[in-house]
Amino acid sequence: MYSSFNRSLRAAPKHAQLLKRVKTHVPRAYKNQSAAVNLLDHCLELHYNGTSMHLNYVWLRDHCRSDFSFNAKTNQRNLDSASIDLGIRPVGTELEDGHLLLRWPDDHVTRYNLSWLSENSYEGKRKSTVQPRMLWNSETYSKANVLPAKWDKFMSCDSVLKQFLQNYLLYGIAFVQDVPATVEATEAVTNRVSLIRETTYGRMWCFTSDFSRGDTAYSQLALDRHTDTSYFHEPCGIQVFHCLKHEGTGGRTLLVDGFYAAEKLREQSPDSFELLTQIPIKHEYVENTGDHRNHMRGIGPLLEVYPWNKELYIIRYNNYDRSVINTIPHNVVQSWYVAHRELTRELRNPENELWVKLSPGTVVFIDNWRVMHGRESFTGLRQLCGCYLTRDDVLSKARGFGLQA
Ligand SMILES: [Fe+2]
Repeated sequence: MYSSFNRSLRAAPKHAQLLKRVKTHVPRAYKNQSAAVNLLDHCLELHYNGTSMHLNYVWLRDHCRSDFSFNAKTNQRNLDSASIDLGIRPVGTELEDGHLLLRWPDDHVTRYNLSWLSENSYEGKRKSTVQPRMLWNSETYSKANVLPAKWDKFMSCDSVLKQFLQNYLLYGIAFVQDVPATVEATEAVTNRVSLIRETTYGRMWCFTSDFSRGDTAYSQLALDRHTDTSYFHEPCGIQVFHCLKHEGTGGRTLLVDGFYAAEKLREQSPDSFELLTQIPIKHEYVENTGDHRNHMRGIGPLLEVYPWNKELYIIRYNNYDRSVINTIPHNVVQSWYVAHRELTRELRNPENELWVKLSPGTVVFIDNWRVMHGRESFTGLRQLCGCYLTRDDVLSKARGFGLQA
């Protein structure tokens, strides 16, 4: 199982000799990139490509990509992590042609690509972004002139789908035009992107202002900006809307980039931003309408950031569905309301409001973890259909096209 590795070691006796050394500090130059490694008491120190990394020894054994430790065909770990000695450390190291070689006490040899280590180290991840985004307000989004996809090409051409997904990842909204104004076509255009997430509202929902469900959405009233299904522990990732018919006035759709507003808050009031990432809030949906009996409850902070790089990845903002606040003491409650007010001020800044009149044929995909939606009140018959998608499935599709997501 180590055969190819051992062959390379036999072909390079000098390296094999060096691998026996317990402490190594070998500055090397690889295409203008220098590398140096040092075994410290509790971790391996690696300097490479301008980054200083500190790599835990158990981690280094656990992430070995040899055939013995890792199945490259399934991308799954073979090694039983629980079998690694927690006091393990290499007995030899070597830098060779852009790779770090480690020999372990049982003579197993791990060969790491230095770029892979740099990319996957904590220090590397702290400097990088999980998902690049273009944050926007009404003016900057309009100036970006993001082109909608067209139904025919969207359904048949992968490069058009890829561009659509790229727009979606960057801006949190993306449009498809010339879609037949039917539920079936809306379902087809959605399936082209990914799997539909069935909820209590069904697989595809279609509603008018008939109050058929216990939700304000089923009325003619204006709806303030909000994210949907905040009462799920994992809110739906993507919201799809298609206005099939509207014979009346009003009813424009409001879109607000929640991350743009949240980043303004982080800039202007970092303590408030931090608080909103820490306080768990409950959202709830209680319905007793006709045959519908639902009681959903989701718990999570208004804003969530990745702990290692503080990158924002979800906003839960729904003043309609936010439930009783009863998990924090009264003095923190006051601070939370102050922070919530500051964020709300940004979210309600007219400069951040993108108003669009959805018309039959235009389907909009909204990142429900980032972009809020609302609507103005309307008159007449307005028929809207749509559905939800899970975020994981859409991101997986995007990664399949080589997009960073
Ligand atoms: Fe909604």
